[in-house]
Amino acid sequence: MMKTTPYPQGVDVPITSSAIFMVATIAPGAESAEKVKAWCADIAGLVRAVGKRVPDGNLSCVCGFSFNAWDALFGSTRPASLHNFREFGVEGRKAIATPGDILMHIRADRMDLCFELATQLLLPLGDAVTVVEEVHGFRNFDMRSMVGFVDGTENPVGDRAVDATIVGDEDPTFAGGSYVIVQKYLHDMTAWNKLTVEQQELVIGRKKLSDIELDDSVKPSNSHSALTVIEKDGKEVKILRDNMPFGRPGSDEFGTYFIGYARSPEPLEQMLENMFVGRPVGNYDRLLDFSRAVSGALFFVPSSDFLEALGE
Ligand code: HEM
Repeated sequence: MMKTTPYPQGVDVPITSSAIFMVATIAPGAESAEKVKAWCADIAGLVRAVGKRVPDGNLSCVCGFSFNAWDALFGSTRPASLHNFREFGVEGRKAIATPGDILMHIRADRMDLCFELATQLLLPLGDAVTVVEEVHGFRNFDMRSMVGFVDGTENPVGDRAVDATIVGDEDPTFAGGSYVIVQKYLHDMTAWNKLTVEQQELVIGRKKLSDIELDDSVKPSNSHSALTVIEKDGKEVKILRDNMPFGRPGSDEFGTYFIGYARSPEPLEQMLENMFVGRPVGNYDRLLDFSRAVSGALFFVPSSDFLEALGE
């Protein structure tokens, strides 16, 4: 039977132990745009070539493109909900927007695979792009985030993950695509570690050791897990996260690279609004008293069929 739905990129791949996140801007001019466009069709081949060398290494790469880059690269027919990253919050507690035309989300069970693919992806691009953010993330004990709590527990799985992340009939031209937001966060670990475990649990809304959710009767409305649960038409709306801790203990850099996929920017933005502005206004996420977003960008991840067709 003929396949009717385009294949997505590897948005919903199994959890890996390493990742490299790269955000790049494209140099002005038609020549750079043409170079990037031609490269798009080669991404899958590069992943195959590097990945084949370690068959059980689970190497994958998801590429996304920003609103600003879209027209120059792919013309004026744009994914229905693609726009620039919307900022939320006030000075001192703000989800800021930072430059970025291309996102490369590289995942594997070995950092050497991520490193090699990142290198091979950038080689053909030359000075057509400038990498403006590069974060090498590692999987921490028990899937714990930098702040010591298990991260990713409430992610949807299987068909539910696909349903939450992959565009369908609502935008037929771009079916098989996905929206993704990335933010680099830095944590004040000194202040965080001054809290008792019980106080930290009230910030996250879950038990630290067992990862069990706090009962609604004790979970504060400004806890991270309370503010990131959202509903539409009476139904909970999920996103798919694959955050990674990163850092350099020697330079006091302790961070979380947030990455969230969804089939529309709407749930991601609703969560950011709840966290940074508050639900209700002022009742903001306590985690932000210990975490600062230093970057932020929104991208559309076209289907892999879309990227491949660019080479024809
Ligand atoms: C400072 C960076 C962040 C850290 C360290 C962090 C960490 C965590 C942890 C430990 C959990 C609980 C376990 C889980 O279900 O995964 C969680 C839940 C969650 N986070 Fe975050 N997160 C961060 C930023 C964000 C952002 C920016 C968003 C959305 C825009 C977000 C969305 C969610 C969602 C949807 C849940 C699941 C809530 C539920 O269904 O109970 N997180 N996060």
